[in-house]
Amino acid sequence: MHAVIKAIEARQPALSAIRRDLHAHPELAFDERRTSGIVAERLRALGIETHTGIGKTGVVGIIRAGSGARSIALRADMDALPIIERNTFAHASHHPGRMHACGHDGHTTMLLGAAEYLAVQRNFDGTVVLIFQPAEEGEGGAREMLADGLLERFPFEAVYGMHNWPGLPAGSFAVHSGPVMASSDPWYIHLRGRGAHAAMPHQGIDPITAGSGIVQALQTLITRSRDPLEPAVLSVTQFHAGDTDNVIPDRALLAGTVRALTHAMRDKLESEMGRVIQGLAAAHGVQAEFDYQRGYPPTVNAAAEAALCAKVARAVAGEAHVHTDMPPSMGAEDFAFFAEKRPACYVWIGNGPGEDGCMLHNPFYDFNDELLPIGASYWVRLVETALSA
Ligand code: NI
Repeated sequence: MHAVIKAIEARQPALSAIRRDLHAHPELAFDERRTSGIVAERLRALGIETHTGIGKTGVVGIIRAGSGARSIALRADMDALPIIERNTFAHASHHPGRMHACGHDGHTTMLLGAAEYLAVQRNFDGTVVLIFQPAEEGEGGAREMLADGLLERFPFEAVYGMHNWPGLPAGSFAVHSGPVMASSDPWYIHLRGRGAHAAMPHQGIDPITAGSGIVQALQTLITRSRDPLEPAVLSVTQFHAGDTDNVIPDRALLAGTVRALTHAMRDKLESEMGRVIQGLAAAHGVQAEFDYQRGYPPTVNAAAEAALCAKVARAVAGEAHVHTDMPPSMGAEDFAFFAEKRPACYVWIGNGPGEDGCMLHNPFYDFNDELLPIGASYWVRLVETALSA
């Protein structure tokens, strides 16, 4: 079924060993010292020009072939999550509280597998920039690499990403044209009332009652003020107030997240949240401070790059195993920072059934090693097609 590159298929046991070693030694955001050390060492052993310390723990490899001036970038993420792994197999995390529960161990290994092949065959014309980025999980490692001069030092005209996707059959692909992942904006509301005895509420100003009203009213922004055909999520995930049963506290903290697929929707929700919060705060007589932060932008695939990726995925996985009609995810991805700078395409590669907890960010998750030669072959064919000799 899969047109996997033979030389890469033969490397499956070696790639699997690398992947399992990374899985056993997970490292959190900007602490990927061992991981980036292994990546840099392997790239150098292949004779690839290697740059370390880009965006703290990021690594960049440069492979040139022919005389072409064109250049593309391939990106893998390297960081793990603060999760206690519950798998008991031999390559389970050796570090309690740290786990590769999002498959970044697999992403790093697939890109290393492609690098091995590209460095030897060089069957393309131009420059490939291999980006091994730190801190995808919330800390914005992509943004950090850009701030460190990634684009100026290693110019590229398009950038590509790949993430495993549990629930999608193993080795199949999903390619979106347009939005593929949502923005992720954290927000905080600090309410200040007046503390009082719980038996004499009229002597105080209750931030809990006000906060409850705000929680309810925020939900109406999604049901009443958003175009129902435009996806958006507004989740309240924290509500902290009070310490005991007979005191009305003087403060409350509410926090949560907004997810959207367009900047216009982020702008709209930010401004309408502010209006609702201040209106309700005034109605209840509390002071409200609203802090809406811009987190990861939406990840939007460019049409031409998405068409190219779909074509390459079909060549590798077969026509029937490439889906171009899947809805986007309301999860977020800091690949979006790269996609804001250059035309980009971020694809999903099926990780197989998500049974027994094998879902992203689940303590029973594991990357499916079957994907290693498929994903590495996809990277190679993408380079050979985009930079065809
Ligand atoms: Ni991930």
